[in-house]
Amino acid sequence: MITVQQTSRPTGFPTVDHFAFVEAPVPDPAPGTALVENTHWSVDPYHREMMDGDFALNAPLEGRTLGRVVESRDPALRTGDLVFHRQGWRTHALVTLGTHGTRRIEAPEGVPLSAYLSILGGTGLTAYVALTRTLQLRPGEDLFVSAAAGGVGTAVGRIARLLGAGRIVGSAGSAEKVAYLTGQLGFDAAFDYHDGTVRELLAKAAPDGIDAYVDNVGGGHLEGAIASLRDHGRIAWVGAIGQYNTAEPPAAPRNLFEVVEKSLRLEGVLVRNHLEVQGEFEEFLVPHLRSGRVAPDVTAVEGFERIVDAFLGMLRGENLGKMLVTAERAGAS
Ligand SMILES: NC(=O)c1ccc[n+]([C@@H]2O[C@H](COP(=O)([O-])OP(=O)(O)OC[C@H]3O[C@@H](n4cnc5c(N)ncnc54)[C@H](OP(=O)(O)O)[C@@H]3O)[C@@H](O)[C@H]2O)c1
Repeated sequence: MITVQQTSRPTGFPTVDHFAFVEAPVPDPAPGTALVENTHWSVDPYHREMMDGDFALNAPLEGRTLGRVVESRDPALRTGDLVFHRQGWRTHALVTLGTHGTRRIEAPEGVPLSAYLSILGGTGLTAYVALTRTLQLRPGEDLFVSAAAGGVGTAVGRIARLLGAGRIVGSAGSAEKVAYLTGQLGFDAAFDYHDGTVRELLAKAAPDGIDAYVDNVGGGHLEGAIASLRDHGRIAWVGAIGQYNTAEPPAAPRNLFEVVEKSLRLEGVLVRNHLEVQGEFEEFLVPHLRSGRVAPDVTAVEGFERIVDAFLGMLRGENLGKMLVTAERAGAS
């Protein structure tokens, strides 16, 4: 088997030189475990955060993954079963059901497997929790989401529409992504954040203001949203991708006191504190996936050997929807 390991800590943007592909013997399953050959890997912004200290050096990395059982010593798992687990960044893994969220997946007809690492996985759950728990979005309310063409962002747009949101505005890093948001995802407006300050661009895209904001970026995006929020507006702060690749402290937001002046609410969201919502979320979303009203937005890079490139590409914004890696022949389905 092959594992990917981090070999040194980056300052600023990581490169391929911070990683190594390391061969190891395929392990034999002990009683109660099964050997899985991985087919789909998720690469995530939080991996960049973990590179600063939480990932041990010269040890296999972790991440959300799907794989098929190839040998089992657990009566509850048979050869060919599909398993979700967190021992990603490697070709094979020994899994134990029930530990670290390891579970067997039986995808209903019409639900592609890639959904379990994108809109139906932790990415989609983050969006659902931010909208229904943190923001408690009500029908007709106007919403802004940053990194809107990414995994969480596209899920926010699609789920907010299902929840009856009013005007949905998104920001993204290219004209192609902006066109995808308004053309394919039904956003009412979108802008490329390179075209000016978010404060100005958002004021133009949402001239009457917004009620709620899902923040994936932090910094100037947060400042712009605070400026556009109406009185009693809410912010679900999900991530700060604008800050992960720099050691500099953020210069924005400079208008934090508007939180007081407009009686805003700003609350952090960590999906791992809401895993109990997964069942409710699947009940809500699966019918829409089966009917085709909602589809997973995914960029699938083929070939495990390209996992580091896919991860770095995601940090650079090369993904539309959730960035995934698939084994050759597994495809994005
Ligand atoms: N709190 C939680 O539990 C939780 C769970 C999942 C994810 N998150 C957070 O949610 C955010 C999105 O995660 P994701 O997995 O869906 O990733 P993603 O949005 O699919 O991928 C990252 C995107 O960030 C954008 N980006 C990169 N550098 C940027 C910058 N300097 N300014 C603005 N945008 C930048 C890029 O798109 P552009 O081309 O648009 O720049 C890139 O495609 C991240 O902040 C992540 O940490 C949090």
